[in-house]
This record gives sequence, structure tokens and C-alpha cells, in this order.
Amino acid sequence: MKLKIDKSFCVGNARCAAVSSELFPLDEEGYIAVEEIDVPAGMEELARRGARACPERIIEVADGGE
Ligand code: F3S
Repeated sequence: MKLKIDKSFCVGNARCAAVSSELFPLDEEGYIAVEEIDVPAGMEELARRGARACPERIIEVADGGE
């Protein structure tokens, strides 16, 4: 499962990182640090929750998300 993040639209809500700071790393200014995340096995539900938690809706499940 992969997540794609429209990083340029991140406004630093940090709700994603509140769900999982391991899956959703933030940069030193509090914005999401990556544009793509390879979700490790077993973390799919956290990944979906993190994606839903972003109020800007910039995190989407790119594949493997049924
Ligand atoms: Fe950015 Fe959304 Fe996370 S605005 S810090 S991707 S909750």
C-alpha cells in the first residue's frame, strides 16, 4: 500500500503525525516531509486513518487501498 501526498498544499495541521509520527514524518517546520509513503505491512489501518485525519485532504491512498 502506498500513500501519495500533495505536499505543496500542506498547511502544517499535523493531524497525520498525531495518528502516527512513524508513518507521517514532519519537517522541522511542522509540514509533512514526504510526498510518498510505502506503508509497512500491518500499518494499513493507521495509514488510512492518517489520510482521513488531514483536513486539507491531501493524503490519498495510491494503491492497495480497498
Ligand atoms: Fe499537512 Fe495534512 Fe498532515 S495539512 S501536516 S498533511 S494533517
